[in-house]
Amino acid sequence: MTSTLMWSRRGWLGLALGAAASGCVTAPGASGAASLDSLAKAKGMRFGAAVGRIDLDNAHYLEIVRRECGVVVAENDHKWPIIHPAPGVYNFAPGDRLVDWAERHNIRPRGHNLLWNHPRWIAPWVANYDFGADPRAGAEALLREHITTICTHYGARIHSWDVINESIDEHTGEMRDTVFTRAMGPQVLDFCFHTARDAAPQAMLVYNDYMNWTADSANHRDGVLKLLHGFKDRGVPVDALGLQSHITADPNTDYAAEEAAWRAFLDEVAGMGYQLLVTEFDVNDNNLPSDPATRDRAVADYAKRYLDLTLSYTQVKEVLTWGIEDGRSWLNNFRPRPDGLAKRPLPYDAAYQPKPLREAIADAFRAAPAR
Ligand code: XIL
Repeated sequence: MTSTLMWSRRGWLGLALGAAASGCVTAPGASGAASLDSLAKAKGMRFGAAVGRIDLDNAHYLEIVRRECGVVVAENDHKWPIIHPAPGVYNFAPGDRLVDWAERHNIRPRGHNLLWNHPRWIAPWVANYDFGADPRAGAEALLREHITTICTHYGARIHSWDVINESIDEHTGEMRDTVFTRAMGPQVLDFCFHTARDAAPQAMLVYNDYMNWTADSANHRDGVLKLLHGFKDRGVPVDALGLQSHITADPNTDYAAEEAAWRAFLDEVAGMGYQLLVTEFDVNDNNLPSDPATRDRAVADYAKRYLDLTLSYTQVKEVLTWGIEDGRSWLNNFRPRPDGLAKRPLPYDAAYQPKPLREAIADAFRAAPAR
């Protein structure tokens, strides 16, 4: 495991008005009384969040997730380095803990991910694995075992899988060069989707990536479109595109240009017949001033623009945030603010108080068309 991998790793809690786990809440200052999941459901969607291992020991975190969410996803515990830490060794306990917890609370778990086809994130033992005299056959055997073992373990308990994560290079728009593409060529993705369909016939199969609406993401968007067209042409069983949606609030945004680019992208994806999911939403506030109230307002306004446009596509079926409260955001480690202040990218703050971003998400569900 490389050093960049960090695998280890009641203020306001609302007045529950409804008895159900996804029931209604009243948030002081909030304009409505419904949970994010119930607002999503009213439009034929679901709302959820990523949950990390340490969150399962945090009653405050779990209470918010129980109240707001109809879907959860493991932040790390279904990823290869954790679930398959050595050849032939599977470690299901951490991922099972979240799935068991979700089921006890009537929340649907989704799976992330079967293959993160990105050199930085492939488990070191896999990156150095000897595929033998016939590398294609060796790589296929390893992938088949990995995907089939995990999908069989969970069966119908996981309703959708990110089969492939981040396989397109954001700069070139080409397939990333990994131990698997070297052994199998770009067909590695087709192979994984076919294998996942066989092993998890009931699950929605998703290609998940972080292309977004900014001008510097044009090659990434084009590369993903090319990939999706190829899947269609070859009859590869891919049901949906996961829009990670790690967006960065920028005071100088040219909304007209970004919205036009995003519309063109989503039109083309929808035109091919794919469903859409917002899988990892959060709002990077690096370009915003330090004052928390100013930042929170700008984050919420930027998010609302992005979500209004994205959720206007009735192909979007789920919206998940990458964590629920600021203190646990991966962005604090991966993209620290230049001024060193803690970031505020999520719907709740580190003291478990709802922020304007929570209301922006709620308003976006209210404004979205039914599906
Ligand atoms: C991140 C986790 O949040 C971190 O804890 C971990 O160290 C690295 O991965 N895109 C993805 C997610 O698809 O899996 C990443 O999660 C965030 C970016």
